[in-house]
Amino acid sequence: MSLQPAVDVSEIEDLLNGRKDGENESLMSVLEDVQARYRYLPKDALILISERMGVPLSQAYSVATFYNAFSLQPKGRHVISVCLGTACIVRGARKVLERASDKLGIQPGETTEDGEFTLETVNCLGACALGPVAVVDGTYYGQMSGLEADALLREVMGEAETL
Ligand code: FES
Repeated sequence: MSLQPAVDVSEIEDLLNGRKDGENESLMSVLEDVQARYRYLPKDALILISERMGVPLSQAYSVATFYNAFSLQPKGRHVISVCLGTACIVRGARKVLERASDKLGIQPGETTEDGEFTLETVNCLGACALGPVAVVDGTYYGQMSGLEADALLREVMGEAETL
């Protein structure tokens, strides 16, 4: 079962209207818009963006794969990231990741079958003093323990059920 939104070419064309050809900054901006709409960058979208903006497809892929904010695979509606940087690991980040993985029933890098949750790991979020750090949909949660991870996941999953 796939719950990812279908790619609407006319919608992507709308995003491209009014943008200048070949500007990398605009390419980033278009990719951000497409990522926000589809929760990933579909291949068809990258091809269309490349053609319409006069940017080599290789450049579009290069940008899409360089930045963590972009994904070539569909992501869940909720993205949970656990920092596995050294400072966070020393403070117990692996336990937080293990709890999140158990609770969601997926491994890091995977998305739940219903398309609701993606679990990721990151190397350092620049908030080492708050470690272990987890990020849920862009909101940082510091000094996480296994129990706090359970509570946070319960809250996020409960929230997901009522949406
Ligand atoms: S190591 Fe986790 S925020 Fe820096």
